[in-house]
Amino acid sequence: MTKIISIANQKGGVGKTITSINLSAALAHFNRKILLIDMDPQGDSSKGLGLDIALCDKTVFDVLLKKENINDVIQNTVVDNLDLLPAKLVLTTLDSLMTLNVESPYTMLKDAIGDIKKKYDYIIIDCPPSLGLLTINSLVASNSVLIPVQCEYFAMDAVTQMLANISKIQASFNKDLGIEGFLLTMYDSKTTLGNEVCMQIRGLFKENTFLTQVPRNISIPESNVKGVPVTVYRPTSSGATAYLSLAREIMDKE
Ligand SMILES: Nc1ncnc2c1ncn2[C@@H]1O[C@H](COP(=O)(O)OP(=O)(O)OP(=O)(O)O)[C@@H](O)[C@H]1O
Ligand SMILES: [Mg+2]
Repeated sequence: MTKIISIANQKGGVGKTITSINLSAALAHFNRKILLIDMDPQGDSSKGLGLDIALCDKTVFDVLLKKENINDVIQNTVVDNLDLLPAKLVLTTLDSLMTLNVESPYTMLKDAIGDIKKKYDYIIIDCPPSLGLLTINSLVASNSVLIPVQCEYFAMDAVTQMLANISKIQASFNKDLGIEGFLLTMYDSKTTLGNEVCMQIRGLFKENTFLTQVPRNISIPESNVKGVPVTVYRPTSSGATAYLSLAREIMDKE
């Protein structure tokens, strides 16, 4: 059975894209067949997998609007077992297009992946930092949400807001949407604040917080600039080790 996981938090810069790329690559490393869907107009997941999005003429935007067949838009990546449905800036226009004449604006993504999802073990969706139409489409299409939480001030506010949003989706379009877990990111054991926030999240959401915490690790931004996952760039780095361990926690539930 294919499992579809949205990586979401409306707070910006908390590690959604880094988690999308590196969790996808780690699952692919364990021979799972993966599709990473970039639902962020910034195209960061696409760039982070080495794609020059300026040269990319077909993207998820065309698939959502049924202008292109999804099979013609999905690309192979440098990582075995990992395919990508790329995004670029034009995706921002989707919110306004909705007011034109799209039949079912909240199920565009769910409808688009209906026929191809059986080809994959996991579909990972990198969401933008907002709760607009793009994130709603992602949550409606998903079995569960993984919420990256950066161990910093105001982390809790974002978590509270995220939980409220998940409840709204459960009450409307996707009653089966589960919480895959909270993932503590950019963890720095040397800062008191980082430790306090981590303890607070673990205290409140013990069952739902992954044992794996992702440390702050320079190999992660370096690999991102090179356009490869950290598991490929520095397989023995603390960042790579963390994402492999996260993948194992997720596969344990299979
Ligand atoms: N574990 C880490 N160690 C060091 N740097 C990291 C780590 N995780 C993420 N970063 C860096 O933090 C920044 C934000 O990460 P990322 O782009 O994944 O966040 P995001 O939630 O996707 O942001 P946005 O909301 O803009 O989409 C990036 O520059 C990334 O390279
Ligand atoms: Mg991002």
